Amino acid sequence: MTKQTIINLGAIEDIPLGQGRCFIVQNDEIAVFRSRSQAIFAIENRCPHRRGLLAEGIMGNDKVVCPLHGHKFDLATGKGSEGMECVRTFKVWQENGQILLEYPIAINVEKKCEDHYAEIVLSANSKIYYREERK
Ligand code: FES
Repeated sequence: MTKQTIINLGAIEDIPLGQGRCFIVQNDEIAVFRSRSQAIFAIENRCPHRRGLLAEGIMGNDKVVCPLHGHKFDLATGKGSEGMECVRTFKVWQENGQILLEYPIAINVEKKCEDHYAEIVLSANSKIYYREERK
């Protein structure tokens, strides 16, 4: 069963203004960017051209430039500058100084709590929160 979950990626201060950082969530590499105007964006980390690491690209005007061959990607929509190229985007926001990411994840329904809310600790600074949807 797949559900949208909210994942805490840690402190927003850990990403310098105007830069990106890569987070690994399940099997996805997700690049999270923090603009100089404090907006945050999350896209898949691998460039569709030849798998360049977009988290290491130069960010400006809410776009990132792939460090390998310079293709550009809009951080809000994922749309690329070249033909049909695009990257997946994720809903991301900050709350109390923490980066929260909405992510589809397979959950074990046996772990759900009475109140349909539970927490799984993934690592020292990364937590997953999942919510059971009521029908
Ligand atoms: S790998 Fe990104 S532009 Fe070539």
